[in-house]
Amino acid sequence: MRKTFKSILLFAGLLTCTCACQSNKQEPLSDVINRSLDVATQQSILMAKALEDQEGRLPTTTNKDGKLKTSNYSWWCSGFFPGELWYLYENNPTAELKKYAEMYTSRVEPAKNVTNNHDVGFMLYCSFGNGFRLTKNPHYLDVMTTGAKSLATRYRPEIGLIRSWDFNKDKWQYPVIIDNMMNLEFLSFIAKETGDSFYSDMINSHAKKTMEHHFRPDYSSYHVISYDTITGLPHAKNTHQGYADESAWARGQAWAVYGYTMMARETGDNAYLEHAKKVAEFIMNHPNMPEDKVPYWDFNAPDIPNTVRDASSAAIIASALIELSQLDKTAQSKQYLNYAIDQIRSLASPVYLAEPGTNNNFVLMHSTGHLPGNSEVDVPLSYADYYFVEALLRLKKLI
Ligand code: GLY
Repeated sequence: MRKTFKSILLFAGLLTCTCACQSNKQEPLSDVINRSLDVATQQSILMAKALEDQEGRLPTTTNKDGKLKTSNYSWWCSGFFPGELWYLYENNPTAELKKYAEMYTSRVEPAKNVTNNHDVGFMLYCSFGNGFRLTKNPHYLDVMTTGAKSLATRYRPEIGLIRSWDFNKDKWQYPVIIDNMMNLEFLSFIAKETGDSFYSDMINSHAKKTMEHHFRPDYSSYHVISYDTITGLPHAKNTHQGYADESAWARGQAWAVYGYTMMARETGDNAYLEHAKKVAEFIMNHPNMPEDKVPYWDFNAPDIPNTVRDASSAAIIASALIELSQLDKTAQSKQYLNYAIDQIRSLASPVYLAEPGTNNNFVLMHSTGHLPGNSEVDVPLSYADYYFVEALLRLKKLI
């Protein structure tokens, strides 16, 4: 009897321990990655099928009425969905993923002739760039070579920067936004493909001048710097999508850490690496970063914590920090990787990761595009999904 009672106690104890241990145990990282890639694959195929018959259309976000919003090639986000399909095809090379990656990439081709803004790098390199990396299709290289010539028309050597926008001409003589750092990856690829130093000089000039003028002493970034076309020096420091001119718009900080990490990889220049690390530290140590490490839309939004998040900036930062952790050879590298893993775990939780078949077939929820313009607030965005999938693949390759 005593023995039976002791056995029951032991069994009950073990059961309690097993339950408690299981609830405290984190999901293995490889499971987080594979589960998220599986959701992304399901959602992207549903999205690809939904738009298959809508010639030229590409997914962007969700409208205020809850319906899917699409664009043609000319919106800055046109390359992200095809790029995401290429990443998913890289992870799981099925004929279906390749068919859709090719179909949606071809819809972006007219962007090669865009000369009225700087977004050609986003549009072409995410789509055609990933497609070329994986297939070596020579037509993709032709499209990108034409696109690089179009983008280069926006560079004025006497200013040493690529002009971002042409609007607001009364306010800005020569506006350059921090986002523009991202277009340099495309031009760096073209510089290497063509061996034309015009492109490598251009990207180094742009990155160095941006490093000099776009950052505050704490290494946070302004959104828009407009340059005086005579002196080549800043005449205005503003925001467009952030809370205030002097605030730290979350996605702007994400573009900054990604942009300088990418430049460190592309050029091997230590100045870019050191700069990326400073920006990373600004982001990682910010007192307004929430516990789950998915930023509010602006680090200085006045209504924190009662304001919306921007999952896209978390995805971009995570992808950048994974790469930074590989380029940096100091003890800090582990911190960058651990921070990115925390962000990935948050984005892979039900708070942000959609159930397949919901969220208009986007992968992530809770991003913010342009809050001051009352546009794309707390919605899915195609680039949140693109950088999330990129980060998942970068992490998968590491573990
Ligand atoms: N490049 C535009 C944005 O980040 O919203």
